[in-house]
Amino acid sequence: MASVYEEQKKLYLSYIQITNKDPVLYEAIKKEFERQFYGIELIASENYVSPAVLEALGSILTNKYSEGYPKKRYYGGNQYIDEVELLAIERAKKLFQVEYVNVQPYSGSPANHAVYFALANPGDTVMGMSLTAGGHLTHGYKVSFSGKYYKAVNYGVSKETEMLDYDKILELALQHKPRLIWVGASAYPRVIDFAKMREIADKVGAYLIADIAHIAGLIVGGQHPSPVGYAHVITTTTHKTLRGPRGGMIMTNDKELHEKIQKAVFPGLQGGPHDHVTAAKAVAFKEALSPKFRDYISQIVKNAKTMVRVFKELGYRVITGGSDNHLLLLDVTSKGVKDLAGKRAQEVLEYVGISVNKNSIPFDTRKPWDPSGIRIGTPAITTRGMKEEHAGQIAKLIDEALRYHSDREQLDKIADKVRALASEFPLFDLAWLAE
Ligand SMILES: Cc1ncc(COP(=O)(O)O)c(C=O)c1O
Repeated sequence: MASVYEEQKKLYLSYIQITNKDPVLYEAIKKEFERQFYGIELIASENYVSPAVLEALGSILTNKYSEGYPKKRYYGGNQYIDEVELLAIERAKKLFQVEYVNVQPYSGSPANHAVYFALANPGDTVMGMSLTAGGHLTHGYKVSFSGKYYKAVNYGVSKETEMLDYDKILELALQHKPRLIWVGASAYPRVIDFAKMREIADKVGAYLIADIAHIAGLIVGGQHPSPVGYAHVITTTTHKTLRGPRGGMIMTNDKELHEKIQKAVFPGLQGGPHDHVTAAKAVAFKEALSPKFRDYISQIVKNAKTMVRVFKELGYRVITGGSDNHLLLLDVTSKGVKDLAGKRAQEVLEYVGISVNKNSIPFDTRKPWDPSGIRIGTPAITTRGMKEEHAGQIAKLIDEALRYHSDREQLDKIADKVRALASEFPLFDLAWLAE
């Protein structure tokens, strides 16, 4: 019987037959396939898309220019592209239960950029979660356009609980009277209270913008409350827990705001939409509407909770004491292993075939390029079919690798275990293909 690897390789390499005529590129893609197949992917923002999403991304839709919106394009020949875009919009509306959607943003950052362009003027005050507390660059970080063109005020988390401190956010909002308040994060393991954030926004007359890039899949899968009805505008990426192509999307229930956003995306910031990506978004939304997706999302959360439990049993400090979603933050300095912090942890784990990213922890005393923590996410391993027992095994492998971080011989043994575990699980859901 062919191994999982052989089966998967045959399936995947059939997608890149043409690239096969370009041996240099083919080799690079093949090696990346092997890295993905034999490795354990714990980067919280990554996932594995389905063969159907890949196929849409590789389709002839990439050939078309379609500046404008359905039924109002600047070039001819867009009748079928209109069908594709309207399908993506309709499915997104159903998935998130919203009235208006723009599916054209090239990615999460351009989606956020469009919201600033639509609803604020350069120099306006905006508020967002600080990068060090888990926020995103586009929420007002000093080196991003959002921190350069707007007066950005950052809020953080409570020192005691390491969770969002809503009283403090209100205090800051009352003091600075921002035009926009961003809520959403890249490295926050707990539930976000959108209702509370809306109360704060209303007290100061600000627009509340929910950036659900990380948790979009959890929201549609019923594992995190939705910001619909609370946020004036919602932005997201489509490639994280939502498991679609790399891309962005902007949603709202307010017609006037939607019109402003439409203009901001095109012609404000973008030219022609990437129609092949729009098609892949439509595919991913259909997949996310299926009951199977709900099971997938609830397994993501179970896997994260299992890892939290095992890490705590192994004596690590888990930031906030736990996780409600798809990620956890581990203070790798908490076990007192000599010469070990975030940077070394990331490197050592990469050596054994486990991908994570170094991450600052709240009130980190270390610098961002070698912070105290690592961020660990379960969306990708869950796509491969891993369950609680495997999540627990992976936590133990991480602990072993961190403890033996300067022992090459031990690390090689751990790398073999990682490879053996990963090899049992496909990157592509073959059962789904057969449906
Ligand atoms: C909360 C949040 N918003 C926006 C983005 C930006 O998305 P992209 O990398 O697609 O521009 C990210 C990406 O990590 C994110 O975590």
